[in-house]
Amino acid sequence: MRYPLNRPVATLPVLATLLARCYASTVTIDPQPKQTLTSFGASGAWWPNDLVHFPQSTQVALGNFLFSKDGLWLSSYRYNMGGDGGNDTQQVTANGSRVESFLLRNGTYDWNRDQAGISFLKMAQQYAVPYITFFINAAPSAIAVNGAACGWSLTADRIQPFANYIVTVLSYWLSHGITDLKYISPMNEPDNNRSDCGQEGMAVVPSLRAPMFQALRKALNASSASRVDIIGDETSRVVTQALPEDPVDLLMSSDGYIIAIHNYDYPDDAGLATYYASIQNLTGGHPPPVKFTETCCSTTFGSGPSVFGEQYDPTMTNALIVARYAWQFLTIVQAESFDWWTAATTLPCSPKIDGLQCATQINNTAGYNSGLVYYDPNYNQTRDFNIYYTKRAFMMKHFAYFHRPGSVRYDVPQQQLPAGVHAIASKTSTSQMSGGWGWGNWGWGTKSVAPTWSVLFMNNQTRPVDITLEIPGKAAGLTRLVQTTNEQDFEDVSPLPPLSRGSAMLQLPASSLVTALFV
Ligand SMILES: *[C@@H]1O[C@H](CO)[C@@H](O)[C@H](O)[C@H]1NC(C)=O
Ligand SMILES: *[C@@H]1O[C@H](CO)[C@@H](O)[C@H](O)[C@H]1NC(C)=O
Ligand SMILES: *[C@@H]1O[C@H](CO)[C@@H](O)[C@H](O)[C@H]1NC(C)=O
Ligand SMILES: *[C@@H]1O[C@H](CO)[C@@H](O)[C@H](O)[C@H]1NC(C)=O
Ligand SMILES: *[C@@H]1O[C@H](CO)[C@@H](O)[C@H](O)[C@H]1NC(C)=O
Ligand SMILES: *[C@@H]1O[C@H](CO)[C@@H](O)[C@H](O)[C@H]1NC(C)=O
Ligand SMILES: *[C@@H]1O[C@H](CO)[C@@H](O)[C@H](O)[C@H]1NC(C)=O
Ligand SMILES: *[C@@H]1O[C@H](CO)[C@@H](O)[C@H](O)[C@H]1NC(C)=O
Ligand SMILES: *[C@@H]1O[C@H](CO)[C@@H](O)[C@H](O)[C@H]1NC(C)=O
Repeated sequence: MRYPLNRPVATLPVLATLLARCYASTVTIDPQPKQTLTSFGASGAWWPNDLVHFPQSTQVALGNFLFSKDGLWLSSYRYNMGGDGGNDTQQVTANGSRVESFLLRNGTYDWNRDQAGISFLKMAQQYAVPYITFFINAAPSAIAVNGAACGWSLTADRIQPFANYIVTVLSYWLSHGITDLKYISPMNEPDNNRSDCGQEGMAVVPSLRAPMFQALRKALNASSASRVDIIGDETSRVVTQALPEDPVDLLMSSDGYIIAIHNYDYPDDAGLATYYASIQNLTGGHPPPVKFTETCCSTTFGSGPSVFGEQYDPTMTNALIVARYAWQFLTIVQAESFDWWTAATTLPCSPKIDGLQCATQINNTAGYNSGLVYYDPNYNQTRDFNIYYTKRAFMMKHFAYFHRPGSVRYDVPQQQLPAGVHAIASKTSTSQMSGGWGWGNWGWGTKSVAPTWSVLFMNNQTRPVDITLEIPGKAAGLTRLVQTTNEQDFEDVSPLPPLSRGSAMLQLPASSLVTALFV
């Protein structure tokens, strides 16, 4: 718009904008190194059971989107080791969530079962996803006292057979190409016995958890899967379950376990800080590493179980809510990893029948914020084999793509950031593995390379925010700026903003994720 000549040059709003720019927040990354990061990922529950019916080209494209550098470049994949033995006394009722166990009810192993899950697991391995976890919701029906993969509570006499079964399965897949298998999680949300059989699950009372981990560690040690680490106990809720239960279950098992937790009570920052203080207290200030292994389905940013509910929100609003959970656990609990629940799941309706807005718009009455990408639940009828993307997928890409395994996290002081803005910073390791020929012998060595700093800003304000970011460490300059907004998915900003007096002047768009790279 052209202003008439007699219009004052600087109107009040313009002055306000100029002032805001002069007083843009100046941010300096704290020089104290924090935890070493391992991975960012999602699980393979239970969409492979549907995707296996999609055209082969779509399956390959989805694998490429999740695992390759052209896509999200996830550094973690959680394979769900199923519990269905074939002729169980009861089967899970939710469509598509039945997962075949390699152990039949009559005690015979059949390695051709769960073809759907295994095909995507193999894709993850082909792309060399560095952290593969096998997680178990329920012991297989052959071991369960009720002959089902749901609705029971682990008993002391079934611990050893369950441990032996796990070791058999892990040893098999390690020797059949799944070499990046790093962790086993023998129980998932063990406070819930899933007696409605809506999904697989078994309860494990707190006093049996440490004995289970110990029996499993011993069995693993004596097998070809001895290098696999145990993570646990994947408690659903931090404040109401993990806080009171950890002293009873996890901390009794001394043998190098790694804590894995979910956040389905969506604790506030103070509640989470209390939890971390308690595990530090219990371990004399040397807590085991913590992995954040599952979240989904929050409808709003807040705390308490009521946040969980039905909603389908593919927009930046929910992506920013989840990004803040990642910030919360990485910063307050020093989590070394962050996994979203499931990589793919069904839309609340069919775009071909109900209209494309079914996939593109917020639905406050149906669906769940549980996938990174979605597909039509009625694909057999509609022949709609499209994959529908959400902003959560690109949110995960900001974490997985730029904060690679081995990077070290640094705090970005919250008091320097405007309200509604959070940030995560990390620095890559300076030494990198390099293959090649050494002096007289051949093998692998390390070479020193300049580190890359990645700083991710999450702007939940509905207007742009200016940030003056002091160049971290000894970096020479800003090399890349990538942003995700309601209009853009992980797009490079060009030209890059100028540096001034050792700082980068960044403008964070409204409702955005912005990653700045410095080398
Ligand atoms: C499972 O799918 C069938 C066929 O699509 C449908 O009729 C049934 O209602 C579904 N059941 C549940 C529990 O969603
Ligand atoms: C168990 O069941 C499978 C499938 O029916 C069969 O192939 C196998 O021989 C059975 N094994 C035993 C020990 O009965
Ligand atoms: C089915 O279950 C019965 C026990 O109820 C068992 O004897 C039989 O071997 C099972 N069959 C398979 C194929 O697992
Ligand atoms: C499952 O848990 C519910 C709720 O705690 C309990 O009432 C029920 O008895 C349990 N069922 C079994 C089979 O353990
Ligand atoms: C398993 O092996 C590790 C490494 O050798 C050892 O530290 C640990 O004590 C062993 N645990 C058991 C239960 O055998
Ligand atoms: C730490 O443990 C002691 C007792 O061992 C207890 O008195 C104290 O309240 C605990 N502090 C926290 C922060 O959990
Ligand atoms: C972002 O702001 C919206 C209101 O504009 C709010 O509903 C949402 O909970 C906020 N998200 C976070 C992560 O603070
Ligand atoms: C929300 O989902 C319901 C249930 O499938 C559907 O009837 C409705 O059309 C959806 N709303 C939008 C905006 O797509
Ligand atoms: C789609 O069809 C295949 C093959 O008939 C079937 O196995 C699968 O369960 C169907 N999926 C759904 C969601 O109905």
